[in-house]
Amino acid sequence: MRAIDIIRKKRDGEAISKEETAFLINGHLKGDVPDYQMASFLMAVYHNGMADEETIALTEAMLASGRKIDMSGIQGVKIDKHSTGGVGDKTSLILAPLMAAMGLKMPMVAGRGLGHTGGTIDKLASIPGLRTSISVDDVRENLKTVGFSIMGQNSEIAPSDKRLYALRDATATVESIPLIAASIMSKKLAEGLDGLLLDVKTGSGAFMKDPEDAKKLARLMVKIGNSMGVKTVALITGMDTPLGRAVGNALEVKECVTALKGRCAPDLMELTMVLAAWMAHISDSISEETEPQKMNETLLKRYKDEIWDYIEHGDAFKKFIEFIDAQHGNPDAAFDPSLLPRAEHIMPILSPWSGFIKRLDAYAAGQASVILGAGRNRMEDEIDLAAGIVIGKKPGDPVAAGEPVATLYTNDASSLGKAEKLFLSGIEISDREPAKARLVHEVITHV
Ligand code: URA
Repeated sequence: MRAIDIIRKKRDGEAISKEETAFLINGHLKGDVPDYQMASFLMAVYHNGMADEETIALTEAMLASGRKIDMSGIQGVKIDKHSTGGVGDKTSLILAPLMAAMGLKMPMVAGRGLGHTGGTIDKLASIPGLRTSISVDDVRENLKTVGFSIMGQNSEIAPSDKRLYALRDATATVESIPLIAASIMSKKLAEGLDGLLLDVKTGSGAFMKDPEDAKKLARLMVKIGNSMGVKTVALITGMDTPLGRAVGNALEVKECVTALKGRCAPDLMELTMVLAAWMAHISDSISEETEPQKMNETLLKRYKDEIWDYIEHGDAFKKFIEFIDAQHGNPDAAFDPSLLPRAEHIMPILSPWSGFIKRLDAYAAGQASVILGAGRNRMEDEIDLAAGIVIGKKPGDPVAAGEPVATLYTNDASSLGKAEKLFLSGIEISDREPAKARLVHEVITHV
């Protein structure tokens, strides 16, 4: 077998076999297939796409390049949630302790933020001492003691994805639905899961701005997951405006702590409860050996009521504390936010207009937070964990001229003016109260 023949096939729009895919992926990881050939293959995939069976084979080869977490001896349903990324999207940090409190096991492999979207690993870095560079063996231990674990991707988990992602980033081939699907699913399937809930974002602050692309990606990932024996459901959810009030790492951790105590912006709580309900439903279908079905409002409400008890009685918050302790962080930070990184410069943004907030654009808010130092444009960039934005007025809220719409936080005073301008450019005002945006656009339970 030769790499050049496989590249030529893909260039000419032909399908490649499972064996050819494995040959390329293994050869690239060993150094037998050089980056320039792999880059050429990636560009051919970018232009010609892949049949679903080819994407499944690619995912399998990427998964097999590393270890799969061995779940033997770990009781309970193993389940995870993955979001394709957004602005202020912090549901993982609320959901994981919530699921653990309910007795489910959540072995999360999470990522760092890139561009205007945040990442769970960066948010956790703001908790003093907390380590996410942990091993697969540590994950097993945390699942047994706490019930959930959050690790960064390391050389044990789908190492081929790490190499390919860097190459895609440098060759303008990130935005390919089969490549994104294989990249995400190879890491998730390495977690040794029974069930998986995908939160595929669409809107201005999402990777997939076009709802049709989001749907294609969601359907493909559901197909990959189910074909590999993991019960997978996808929700397509809106990302036109930041989720909750905080954007930025320490600020988002602080918001998660209040959410775990039952207090946060309604959109953040609602989406978290819907995601939690779906995770509980997937878990029940695994225990009952049935297929997860679309839920009606009555069933959804029944799950949400049951889940709310774990927040109300403090069980989820207790799990969060146990997790911080197990991953070497200082649990006091969850009780005393002054122990989280704090910004030297804090500035309110005053509304130049009166009316109702009609649009508060997620992309503009995300970019403004990057300018303040909360995000990175390149993977190697340093970030300011204290930087970010706290939104005072959400879409639908009335505002008067001169009232604060948001507060900026940074350690770089020179960034404030530019961030303010950018944030305001994403606001649209209307005379009348606008209609509420839908949080969940669609549910895909099987393909
Ligand atoms: N997230 C991933 O893990 N991989 C991609 O390709 C895109 C988003």
